[in-house]
Amino acid sequence: MASGSESLNGDAEAGQEKSVTCAACHGQTGNSPTGDFPNIAGQGYKYLVKQLMDYRTGVESNGERGRYNMLMAGQVANLSDQDMHDLAAFYSTQEHDIGSVDEDIVAEAQRLFLGGDTDRGITACAACHGPGGAGMGLAAFPMLSGQHAQYTKAQLEMFRSGDRANDPNAMMRDIATRLTDRDIEILSQYINGLY
Ligand code: HEC
Ligand code: HEC
Repeated sequence: MASGSESLNGDAEAGQEKSVTCAACHGQTGNSPTGDFPNIAGQGYKYLVKQLMDYRTGVESNGERGRYNMLMAGQVANLSDQDMHDLAAFYSTQEHDIGSVDEDIVAEAQRLFLGGDTDRGITACAACHGPGGAGMGLAAFPMLSGQHAQYTKAQLEMFRSGDRANDPNAMMRDIATRLTDRDIEILSQYINGLY
């Protein structure tokens, strides 16, 4: 990781200009049209910078470190630290859409999200992501609110299998290994309508 990047400040207007190529998948303002691509509108600034850097590290290390995804690899390979900060400044200041959730699973999912499960050693999601899924910006804990269920499910499965391993101190891998397929299914749906 390049040094000094912590002290860079993003410029949202410059970021908007640089976001033209991103719009094809993530939508004009970061609300993506399908669950194949995550919503990034309103996501935390620090988290966004970290992910972009992690994807670049993934490219540089042939997937050994950071975060690797084929589609994102081509996008970040040539971005500078300043570009990443500008893009993060743009997306973090956009309004994000909220989806919906099937009433049938709300109670069950909410119990796990807000309370965790002591018997199974699952910490409440809300402890880090907030009760409404808004995340914690300074800690770079991501916002989850309104995210496409398909994307959330895929990420939880990748944390569980270890295919995604860029979470500090294995915080998410530790939790995801304790989740059943059903937990992942209902949490993903719940998060889509959560705010
Ligand atoms: C060809 C489609 C495509 C384009 C273009 C694209 N992305 Fe992505 N992006 C994806 C996909 C797919 C993922 C999820 C990948 C994964 O599972 O890791 C993703 C993930 C991300 C994430 C992580 C989101 C999260 O919640 O962790 C960020 C941030 C991001 N993209 C930013 C950008 C930016 C900035 C650009 C433009 C420079 C861009 N993307 C261009 C497809 C695309
Ligand atoms: C101890 C804190 C902590 C707890 C508890 C926690 N998370 Fe996370 N979660 C994180 C961190 C940190 C990240 C970001 C990792 C990174 O930097 O890539 C994350 C990332 C995620 C992501 C990926 C977001 C994205 O945009 O790609 C999902 C989905 C997620 N968590 C869901 C959950 C769910 C569901 C629970 C409860 C079962 C949970 N988390 C509990 C800290 C936590």
